[in-house]
Amino acid sequence: AAAEKGGFATFMDKEIHDQPTAVADTLRGRVDENGRLRLDEGLIDEYVLKSIDKIIVVACGTASYAGLVARYAIEHWTRIPVEVDLAHEFRYRDPVVNIKTLVVAISQSGETMDTIMAVRHAQQQGATVIGIVNTQGSTIAREADAVLYTRAGPEIAVASTKAFLAQITASYLLGIFLAELRGNKFPDEIAALLSELDAMPAKIQRVLDTAEPIRVVARSMADEHTVLFLGRHVGFPVALEGALKLKELAYIHAEGFAAGELKHGPIALVEQDKPVFVIVPSPHGPESLHAKVLSNVQEVRARGARTLVIAVEGDEEAARHADEIFYVPDAPVLMTPLLSVIPLQIFAHELASAKGFDVDQPRNLAKSVTVE
Ligand code: G6P
Repeated sequence: AAAEKGGFATFMDKEIHDQPTAVADTLRGRVDENGRLRLDEGLIDEYVLKSIDKIIVVACGTASYAGLVARYAIEHWTRIPVEVDLAHEFRYRDPVVNIKTLVVAISQSGETMDTIMAVRHAQQQGATVIGIVNTQGSTIAREADAVLYTRAGPEIAVASTKAFLAQITASYLLGIFLAELRGNKFPDEIAALLSELDAMPAKIQRVLDTAEPIRVVARSMADEHTVLFLGRHVGFPVALEGALKLKELAYIHAEGFAAGELKHGPIALVEQDKPVFVIVPSPHGPESLHAKVLSNVQEVRARGARTLVIAVEGDEEAARHADEIFYVPDAPVLMTPLLSVIPLQIFAHELASAKGFDVDQPRNLAKSVTVE
């Protein structure tokens, strides 16, 4: 088993370190000679893809957070409205789905029954389904009209890490592809996006190479009872994922919030010394977003919180408001979740390990939930 873990103490730690490769492999060879995205399986008539007027992402757990990231990117690049549904909520809300709907089912295992049932419901309504799936030949891969495989390799740890980054990466590819196909972007803009994506694996590696400070902080926090996570725009799903990882692995109460919601409720939870992670967006992002999130940091700090801030390298203003600062490389804003989530994965892993828990097999959880 030690060999399978590649020298790491846990599968999860190995898989965290596999992430540069998982993203690079998911990107490799994806663009054909005509500059079009190559789907791995199935074929969707280009006419259908040109005529869709809505995208609905269906997924569960961590995959649903990849879907939330996908929404920001795909909507921005394609101008197609994107919804994200938890797969088990999808059919019960009687969603508006028809032949002009593209449903994107995201699943590591391809066997999550809730997601399979959402796929079937969508197909019954006439929708086209693309699977973003990690497991070759799985049920969702077989039943979807087309598949874009994430090439993360087998994920053994129950808590998803490298599959999550690969899902986000595949979603970007899908968004870029649709933008190209539908003429939303000029060829040079498409090429620029693809080359920015190609630069991400090296940046992910850099986050891993500079992660010691978050490990040290995590080990000192084994006695915490509650940790809050705030993020805005693409930082919001990152906050949700950071909180989920901590719940799953360390059995600590953790909540992720949209930073803009802070004043509408969550700020009531802030008290002296309570740890609050804040994912601060790049100063180069959408206008005034950076300033607004930094003012959230100040608001919680003024109430005694201990602020743990994730910011992009060079953001010295963020450091001034942080009790602890963790830097990640700068990147196009929509792509930053591939970087900013990594310190949170490592935090949950280290804190749970410090508590002596089995991070690869947390209590009560299954890698793949094959019942509804
Ligand atoms: C389970 C796992 C989660 C995973 C979710 C969706 O709940 O414990 O880690 O995110 O299922 O799994 P899928 O295989 O569909 O991505």
